[in-house]
Amino acid sequence: MLTKAAVLFEQPGRWEVAELELEPPRQDELLVKMTAAGLCHSDDHIVTGDLPLPPGALPMAGGHEGAGVVHEVGPNTPGWAVGDRVVLTFLPMCGLCRWCASGMQNLCDNGARVLSGVREDGSRRMTLEGKPVGQAAGVATFSEWSTVSVQSAVKCPDGIPLDAACLTSCGVGTGWGSAVRSADVTPGDVVIVMGTGGIGMNAVQGAAHAGASVVIAVDPVEMKRTASFGFGATHAVATMDEATEVARSFTNGQGADSCIICVGVTTGEQVAEGVEAIRKAGTVVLTGLPKAADDLAIPISIRHLVLFQKRLQGSLFGASSPSKEIPALLELYRHGRLKLDELITRRYTLETLNDGFEDMRSGRNLRGIVSYQE
Ligand SMILES: NC(=O)c1ccc[n+]([C@@H]2O[C@H](COP(=O)([O-])OP(=O)(O)OC[C@H]3O[C@@H](n4cnc5c(N)ncnc54)[C@H](O)[C@@H]3O)[C@@H](O)[C@H]2O)c1
Ligand SMILES: [Zn+2]
Ligand SMILES: [Zn+2]
Repeated sequence: MLTKAAVLFEQPGRWEVAELELEPPRQDELLVKMTAAGLCHSDDHIVTGDLPLPPGALPMAGGHEGAGVVHEVGPNTPGWAVGDRVVLTFLPMCGLCRWCASGMQNLCDNGARVLSGVREDGSRRMTLEGKPVGQAAGVATFSEWSTVSVQSAVKCPDGIPLDAACLTSCGVGTGWGSAVRSADVTPGDVVIVMGTGGIGMNAVQGAAHAGASVVIAVDPVEMKRTASFGFGATHAVATMDEATEVARSFTNGQGADSCIICVGVTTGEQVAEGVEAIRKAGTVVLTGLPKAADDLAIPISIRHLVLFQKRLQGSLFGASSPSKEIPALLELYRHGRLKLDELITRRYTLETLNDGFEDMRSGRNLRGIVSYQE
């Protein structure tokens, strides 16, 4: 069958709408009609080349945050039915590797293929004029239709709208888990969230939910600072200097318990500012990704880290297992304890996708989504 998709042909590049040939599902695969896809800054890192793809990965149909409806189930694929509503996950879950078996599905060994956009055997399911096209994270949510592995799908509970649910597949799960799991926020904590866009706003929600008494949102964009109060921030400031001062004012000068870094294009200097802002034995969580050229540059004193026993903690999808976390987040939403609808600022089509990313870069959106026609 044919599907319309936003495709990246080169790095750096821009999204180009193309009609692709899509293969029907094989065993353990599903044909999904996309309902909604979120615009995440990681997609933009792929567009700019900040997140370099392995050789041969392009062209690639983009998008790794999304949700839709199953229209066909591959042969011998038990447990799935036509009409199932699914949230797609950018990290596949094999269920068998050491990481999946240890409750760390986000580190599943099959995640190694996320950037190359190919299946386990190296094959692809999309072609353009006979030439293979990869699927971003194996899901390609910037495509009206996609053939995905069952390892990349989580059933969406009944009664939850798919456009809200789609946000849990990357942004919400990542931000929430960055606070609740990677920073291990506990009641009474003083928490700084640096960068309150699509990911960071959910770190704010997570920190507030975990009982932080002070949640300081840091963002140069006024709209984000204002919005952060609705997600549980107690303070919102434009710079880390101000945030550090606020944190110290609540901790006898010691500093924040944790600083969660969710800046769109994270720099080494920002990580160093985070380390400066936390107390002894505090934690800096690294969730935002850097420019390719900045990847090795973190100007942090080794002595300071050692003598103050501080912790730097990387975080992938909020250190959460998609098949456990996504349904749990959606139940919180159902019960009015997690905000999803309020995250959606603007809706786009595949044709206006580049405008959506321009809006992201200029700070106009908490989250933009592509809405597909029913
Ligand atoms: N680790 C993971 O699993 C994971 C998953 C998804 C996204 N990410 C990464 O997280 C980052 C954030 O993604 P997003 O979709 O929320 O992007 P976004 O563009 O929606 O949000 C980034 C925010 O950072 C703010 N910002 C810019 N400069 C700042 C500064 N100096 N201080 C404080 N804030 C600043 C922006 O105003 C914006 O609000 C990206 O680097 C993305 O690639 C990581
Ligand atoms: Zn993402
Ligand atoms: Zn696994």
